[in-house]
Amino acid sequence: MKILVFGSLNIDLTFSVDHIVKPGETIGSTALQRGAGGKGANQAAALAKAGMDVYMAGKIGADGEFLAGLLQSYGVNTDHVVRYDGATGQAIIQLEKTGQNSILLFAGGNGEICPDEIEKTLNAFGAGDAVLLQNEIVRTGEIMEQAKKRGMKIYFNPSPFDASVAALPLDIVDCFFVNEIEGASLTGMDSGLTDILDSLVRRFSRAEIILTAGSEGAYYAFGSMRAKGEIVKLPVVDTVGAGDTFTGFFIAARNMGQPVEEALQTACRAASVSVSRKGAMEAMPRWDEL
Ligand code: RIB
Repeated sequence: MKILVFGSLNIDLTFSVDHIVKPGETIGSTALQRGAGGKGANQAAALAKAGMDVYMAGKIGADGEFLAGLLQSYGVNTDHVVRYDGATGQAIIQLEKTGQNSILLFAGGNGEICPDEIEKTLNAFGAGDAVLLQNEIVRTGEIMEQAKKRGMKIYFNPSPFDASVAALPLDIVDCFFVNEIEGASLTGMDSGLTDILDSLVRRFSRAEIILTAGSEGAYYAFGSMRAKGEIVKLPVVDTVGAGDTFTGFFIAARNMGQPVEEALQTACRAASVSVSRKGAMEAMPRWDEL
C-alpha cells in the first residue's frame, strides 16, 4: 500500500519561554530554534520513520526547500511537493519549560493548493492506496472526494480544528484521529473521554476512531470494540508533534499487521519518546529504536 500525506509543510520557529505570553504582555525568550514542521510533513516523517512507503504532497516556497530535503532523508517521496513563488507556511511556537506549547500559524503555500495539483497528484494513486489528511491546507474536502472516487482509504486528523471541518464530507472518512477537544467539537459533547468516544462511534458508524488523550494515553473504538494504549513515562521536554508521531506510528503498526491494542501501544511509545526530545519530526524515533 502506498500512503499519500496531502498536507502542510511549515517552518517551525520555536521560542523557549518561561510561560506562554498573555494578551498585552511582552516577554523575552531563552532560545530560538528553526526546525521542520507542519502537521502534514510531521505525519509523513513519522510514517517513513516507522517504515512505510510514504508520499508527501503540498506546496512550499524557496525558503522551505530544506523541508523537502529533510523528508527525503527520512525516505519520504516528495515528487508531489509543488514549488511556488511565495512563502512557505510558518509556525511561531512558544515552548514552556513544562513542555506545553502554543502555536500561531501562517498558511503560506498550505493555503495555495490548486485543483489541478490535487488531480495530478491523486492520478498517481488508486484502489488499495491511502491518503492521510489534516486540517492545515485548503481544499481538504476536494481531496477527500477525489481520493474516495479512486478507491483510496481516507485517514483524517481534523487538526487544527475550526468551523470549516463541519462542512467537509466526513461520512466518507474511514479512520479519524482526534484529541479530546476535537472529539468534543465534532460531537457537541462537553467532556468525558468515554462519552465522546461513544458519541463519535454513533456519529461515524463506518469509521475507526482513535482518540488521543495526552498523559492518559489513547483510545480506539470501532462498532462495539474498544481498546486503550498507555503512554510510557519519560521526561517531558517538548510536546510539539507528539500527536503527529502517534498518528504515523499507529497507521504504520496496523499496516504491518499489529493488532489494534499492540498498535496503540507502539504509537503511544513513539509519541512518548518524541516528547522527551526537542523538535517535531527531528524528535521522532525510528521504528527500530522502540
Ligand atoms: O503538530 C505540530 C505542528 O503543528 C507543528 O510542527 C507546527 O508546524 C504546526 O503545524
